[in-house]
Amino acid sequence: MNSGIINKLQWRYATKKFDPNKTLSEEKLEILKEAFNLTATSYGLQPLRLIVVSDPEIKEQLVPISMDQQQVKDASHVLIFCTESTVNSKYIKEHFNRVEDIRDTPREILDPFELYLLQSFSEKKPEDIEQWMTKQAYLAMGNLLTVCALEDIDACPMEGFDPEKYDELLQLTQKGLRSVLVMPVGHRADDDMFADLKKVRRGVEKVVISI
Ligand SMILES: Cc1cc2nc3c(=O)[nH]c(=O)nc-3n(C[C@H](O)[C@H](O)[C@H](O)COP(=O)(O)O)c2cc1C
Repeated sequence: MNSGIINKLQWRYATKKFDPNKTLSEEKLEILKEAFNLTATSYGLQPLRLIVVSDPEIKEQLVPISMDQQQVKDASHVLIFCTESTVNSKYIKEHFNRVEDIRDTPREILDPFELYLLQSFSEKKPEDIEQWMTKQAYLAMGNLLTVCALEDIDACPMEGFDPEKYDELLQLTQKGLRSVLVMPVGHRADDDMFADLKKVRRGVEKVVISI
């Protein structure tokens, strides 16, 4: 298939070896930050934060709490997708105030929806809210993976880390956050053998069902 975006998605791969001497430009970093903020989220509530680590000492300390995966040390930056510790009524009200400010939406239009969300979230169990927030984090990482491919940025999506140890090291609990996913970004090393491996996929004819 001859499509620019498909070629880019073929180019990207879960980078196992980054070139430690190649740093992402500020411009590329800004693109990633903007793309994170533009990610679609359920109800637009954005229960997420992105930690961007560039400090070499901290990156080094991440290795043993990331199943010894060297990507977190060698990548230019390590992105950590975090969820808020919870979404409570204060958080929901702030969201609706923001909508009012930015869009000038009249209160009589916003109020019924705000009341509905306040009621709905007050009835949810904390673990259900946590699971819902985690899904939003996965969506954000998926979005950034595609943006990385389009911007010639190498990345490795990672679940292989110890979230509790990350939270401790980066003092995330004090910030009201929980780490959910990790994504080192930068540029692949010339000798990363994974770069040339063929993609292993089940195939469009298998994974897509047309009805
Ligand atoms: C949610 C998620 C978690 C992953 N965790 C890791 C990880 O901890 N370490 C790693 O090297 N690759 C990890 N991967 C990469 C996958 O193994 C990889 O995306 C998959 O094998 C497809 O290969 P490709 O991305 O190179 O096309 C993860 C991918 C996803 C989507």
